[in-house]
Amino acid sequence: MFGQFPQTRLRRNRYDDATRRLMAENRLSVDDLIWPVFIIEGNKNETEIASMPEIKRVSVDLLSRYVEPAIKLGVPALALFPVTAKEKRNANGSEALNPNNLICRAARELKKQFPDTALIGDVALDPYTDHGHDGILKDGYVVNDESVEILAEQAINQAQAGIDFIAPSDMMDGRVGAIRQALDNKGYINTRIMSYAVKYASVYYGPFRDALESGNLLKGDKKTYQMDPANREEAIREVELDIQEGADSVIIKPGMPYLDIIRTIRDRFPVPIVSYQVSGEYSMLMNAIANGFMHREKTIMETLLCFKRAGANAIMTYSALEAAKILKTS
Ligand code: PBG
Repeated sequence: MFGQFPQTRLRRNRYDDATRRLMAENRLSVDDLIWPVFIIEGNKNETEIASMPEIKRVSVDLLSRYVEPAIKLGVPALALFPVTAKEKRNANGSEALNPNNLICRAARELKKQFPDTALIGDVALDPYTDHGHDGILKDGYVVNDESVEILAEQAINQAQAGIDFIAPSDMMDGRVGAIRQALDNKGYINTRIMSYAVKYASVYYGPFRDALESGNLLKGDKKTYQMDPANREEAIREVELDIQEGADSVIIKPGMPYLDIIRTIRDRFPVPIVSYQVSGEYSMLMNAIANGFMHREKTIMETLLCFKRAGANAIMTYSALEAAKILKTS
């Protein structure tokens, strides 16, 4: 027992704003934010995503102007997601290895304009396959080791284009080790690996698959490689393996429904944790806000703060630009 009423009154520490500010255990800063952006082919091309209010897909020529406000406000990193045209998709996702593919062109353009902004490249084949899976299929099964070989090449391709953080999101076994080795062999010893170590087979990715136009291509589901939402112990094993294989930081995804997993990993491993507030969470919140059911700024800031409290170091969020603006003015 640390104290007893009436000598102890916990409300004293909540008495006024100055006291609350002094006593706060966690704080959100612009340094914590990563902004995911969707890139499309074409010129002066900008399209809306029906299930993600206010989020756009933009072509490479518009990209710098689109991200500049976030960079000016101090957002340190962007996560790039290319929308691959249907004609360029095939069974093996070979467009992932094209040095002139959309993500590589976007990375080169952004590095030219904003050399100090960190670029995070998603490594998985689903934007490039005609079946929408993250690896290659044999007899209807996503085969592990053959997929890992391609993913390692995809990582090299992105590193060559200037991507700073390779973020494997495919959930194949052994890919972090294979990617680390491939990067090192090519001399990319400082290219960081931000591994989607704990990624659940989640319904919350629905709007993202709309954004990438891969939702209606996907045959079946991703349950043979992404994790079962029922499992927590397994997350510990996934993180341990990825650290051993050379991951510099780990992503836990989705975000809000999985805060317990962030806390579990925080208590267990001294590793930087990134949480991903995914598309479905964004859509839910924006719908409630649009209906006037919840206050816009307060909703965004409270949800992001909760990630910090759970133990995250950084947060990928579609609200990064808005959160940066709010932080600047508050
Ligand atoms: C690709 C990938 C997905 C997301 C990030 N990378 C979708 C999936 O695995 O189906 C989801 C992000 C979001 O929902 O915001 N492997």
